[in-house]
Amino acid sequence: MKKRHLTTNQGVPVTDNQNSLTVGERGPVLLQDVQFIEKMAHFDRERIPERVVHAKGAGAHGYFQVYKSMKPYTKAKFLQEPKKKLPVFVRFSTVVGGRGSADTVRDPRGFAVKFYTEDGNYDLVGNNLPVFFIRDAIKFPDMVHAFKGAPDTNIPSASSAHNRFWDFISLTPESTHMIIWLFSDRGTPKSYRMQEGFGVNTYVWVNAEGRAVYVKYHWKPKLGVQNLDRHEATRLAGIDPDYLTRDLHDAIAKGEEVEYELDVQLMDIADEFKQNFDPLDPTKTWPEDKSPLMPVGKMVLNRNPENFFAEVEQAAFCPASIVPGIEFSADKLLQGRTFSYADTQRHRLGPNYLQLPINRPIVPVDNNQRDGAMQIGQFSGSVNYEPNSLAGGMSKEAPEEGTPRVYQLEGEVTRRKISITNDFAQARERYRSFSKMDQEHLVDNLIADLMHIDKPIQQRVIDNLTKADPELGRSVAGDLKL
Ligand code: HEM
Repeated sequence: MKKRHLTTNQGVPVTDNQNSLTVGERGPVLLQDVQFIEKMAHFDRERIPERVVHAKGAGAHGYFQVYKSMKPYTKAKFLQEPKKKLPVFVRFSTVVGGRGSADTVRDPRGFAVKFYTEDGNYDLVGNNLPVFFIRDAIKFPDMVHAFKGAPDTNIPSASSAHNRFWDFISLTPESTHMIIWLFSDRGTPKSYRMQEGFGVNTYVWVNAEGRAVYVKYHWKPKLGVQNLDRHEATRLAGIDPDYLTRDLHDAIAKGEEVEYELDVQLMDIADEFKQNFDPLDPTKTWPEDKSPLMPVGKMVLNRNPENFFAEVEQAAFCPASIVPGIEFSADKLLQGRTFSYADTQRHRLGPNYLQLPINRPIVPVDNNQRDGAMQIGQFSGSVNYEPNSLAGGMSKEAPEEGTPRVYQLEGEVTRRKISITNDFAQARERYRSFSKMDQEHLVDNLIADLMHIDKPIQQRVIDNLTKADPELGRSVAGDLKL
């Protein structure tokens, strides 16, 4: 192995890394020990703010490849060419717990994919469950406050078994469908390699003729879906809090390829009001018999990060990172998400966070943003504005490719709930689709949590479960002696 020697950050050789610079062999230590000061000052700053949600995660690199061109539906360049392998980076995460929390607690799991495309980065920031607790982003800070540690005690750190969680949930009937998913064994996946992923929100695909269609994304793990039961999940949280992180890392380190298929559901925009639910409501799924899954391509994860901090901690995924051919729907949760992520990332990582290697597009970035903390761009010349004549008009606006989608919007300006809420029908269908064993696990998982909370809140939860399915409500109420 090539001999290397230690240096300071300025590149100056370090000849003694064991002893501080002192007066005599005991001290005191001198302020002029710049080597010590640099080392300690760096160490003092080695933590950045953790993500406000999804703080604990694991990442992997790999590639994505389409099976067949998606040209009829979208002009997105990375979805056109079956021969091409596109680099991706994925981060899986738990949601509620802080950075040091256990992997196997009941929680949704984040499933965030960064596609490094020739038209810039596309981020598909999804979860392992197909629906969400709420449908309007304005409720998200309250929801997360209620789920995370209490403001006075900081208890609990990563668990739903407490009054505040259920207080919020029981007053939020649209969460009932999500609760049926979360308290089934899907809330404790056995491996990040054995979980599905869902975009949850509805996006819009636009083709070169400007024709638009609604789209929902699904990831299917090649290994199939496998979950832990509550007892095993609890045991693992004690003996191996990094169980899911280790499982992903070790599989890839052994040379195993971790594979998922990307499927989409498409819906004609003209059909959006023909359903008995609002298709842009993220507390709902689209029935697969009416909107069948269409296979799009595969993703293979085959390389572990080498520096967790640089690649995983500093990774910044954002649902607003879209590319031509993909647009946002009017889904109110998605609309709020498009603001929140980059905003928090400017705070968490600094204004030039997209220059970090893990976040940087593989295509050149060319705009006039030359300043801001930690600027590392290579620029020259005196022109940092557009339009200009002094730099020959460069850099110019890019030409539009294809016909842009043009659509009309009209309506009164209002703060109002959507009118087709239908909050319990899909919760009921989901519950009834379970096997006997899955239904028993759901009831058992709910009771294990609800037994710790106050009676009036228990009663409100039962009321919502009963509206979903009277038998489910009765089973849970019976065991709680309500
Ligand atoms: C209004 C609703 C939501 C808001 C305001 C919101 C906000 C946030 C914020 C601020 C972060 C931290 C980002 C960072 O520091 O890099 C985050 C992370 C994340 N969110 Fe959301 N979120 C919402 C709903 C959702 C939904 C519905 C999903 C799933 C479809 C989701 C999936 C994720 C994932 C996977 C991460 C972690 C990304 C990573 O691995 O770095 N979120 N969210």
